Amino acid sequence: MTITRDIRYVGVDDHQIDLFEGQYAVPNGISYNAYVILDDKIAVMDTVDAHKKEEYLHNLEDVLQGRAPDYLVISHVEPDHASSLKAFAERYPHAQLVGNAKTFSMLQQYFDVDFSGALVVKEGDKLSLGKHELTFYMAPMVHWPEVMVTYDSCDKVLFSADGFGKFGALDVQEDWDCEARRYYFNIVGKYGGQVQALLKKAAGLDIQVICPLHGPVLSENLGYYVNKYDVWSSYTPETVGVFIAYASLHGNTAEAAQKLAGILREKGCPEVEMIDLARGDFAEAVEGAFEFGKMVLAASSYDGGVMPFMDKLLHHLKAKNYQKRTVALIENGSWAPSAARTMKELLGQMKDITVIEPVVTIRGAVKPGDIEQLEALAQALMQQ
Ligand SMILES: Cc1cc2nc3c(=O)[nH]c(=O)nc-3n(C[C@H](O)[C@H](O)[C@H](O)COP(=O)(O)O)c2cc1C
Ligand SMILES: [Fe+2]
Ligand SMILES: [Fe+2]
Repeated sequence: MTITRDIRYVGVDDHQIDLFEGQYAVPNGISYNAYVILDDKIAVMDTVDAHKKEEYLHNLEDVLQGRAPDYLVISHVEPDHASSLKAFAERYPHAQLVGNAKTFSMLQQYFDVDFSGALVVKEGDKLSLGKHELTFYMAPMVHWPEVMVTYDSCDKVLFSADGFGKFGALDVQEDWDCEARRYYFNIVGKYGGQVQALLKKAAGLDIQVICPLHGPVLSENLGYYVNKYDVWSSYTPETVGVFIAYASLHGNTAEAAQKLAGILREKGCPEVEMIDLARGDFAEAVEGAFEFGKMVLAASSYDGGVMPFMDKLLHHLKAKNYQKRTVALIENGSWAPSAARTMKELLGQMKDITVIEPVVTIRGAVKPGDIEQLEALAQALMQQ
């Protein structure tokens, strides 16, 4: 695949992977992107996951046409990108490895490769390939501490590491937003501040093409994608409406959640999205929580606390820096309802969370009085 006259794609699709990072379902697979810049000197931008190394080396060979690369730029040490490094170094022993000080200290933990001849770069350093001049910018914690991005001023291309990445292999056509958002909040969601810092650096560059390490190369309407990243990384709600997440043992709390969704729709709520935390994709739940400004948590009481799936969601949201949102609560309990108290405690550990009243307490089945409470809750949600 040709990106610009001198830049080629040498990455691979992975449809075999069951769970990305050992946890995220990727029904449409994932791509590990890598690129080659052909100039007087040749730079290879990253490798791929080791179980795709043969295909990667084959792609490289195709593009290089008998030439040997001069540099391998390592944007990110995580094994989905760097674990073919040894295979690369064995095939192209004269290529100089390019990374920052942290890149090499971390690489040593993973790979038995000789890094003594490496080119160690820092913020703003440049590397000329001929026409193409690369500038390196550090992007710590946009996903790991050693991450850096590279700007090619000749073709105005930003190699953005995991930034602007997306789940889904490149041979599958699908909406960018949904899978890029699920990727963003689950993978880098915790580090909004660091993403904002990177966006500020990028704002000073004339960028025509973004080449991420996962998902499609972005070359049109870049303002759209940059704006999405600005919204996401500043924890600004994106979609007007209500996200409802429920965890229900025997189905009564699920019924209440469904009833509430119906009432909200009747009242003209622009969008209502719902997820069963026991059966839905957990990463979708994290995504939904961040996408909407308002969230309803509905859960059964469980052993003096809350049903484990809800407990898991709240701990996860806290870890991902969930903030600046309005949350409503529905609990169910037969003898001493404890779900709402537990959820409130966990929400209390997060920044700028408004819990709206009334908290709805259901005892067993949903009864007419509960519907009235759900009506009142829907009203309060619409007014917020
Ligand atoms: C293992 C287990 C633990 C429970 N713990 C509590 C509890 O601590 N307090 C309470 O009031 N109800 C407790 N319950 C009862 C449920 O919360 C109650 O049946 C509720 O109506 C379930 O709502 P659901 O139909 O949405 O699952 C527990 C139920 C189970 C199965
Ligand atoms: Fe990563
Ligand atoms: Fe990655």
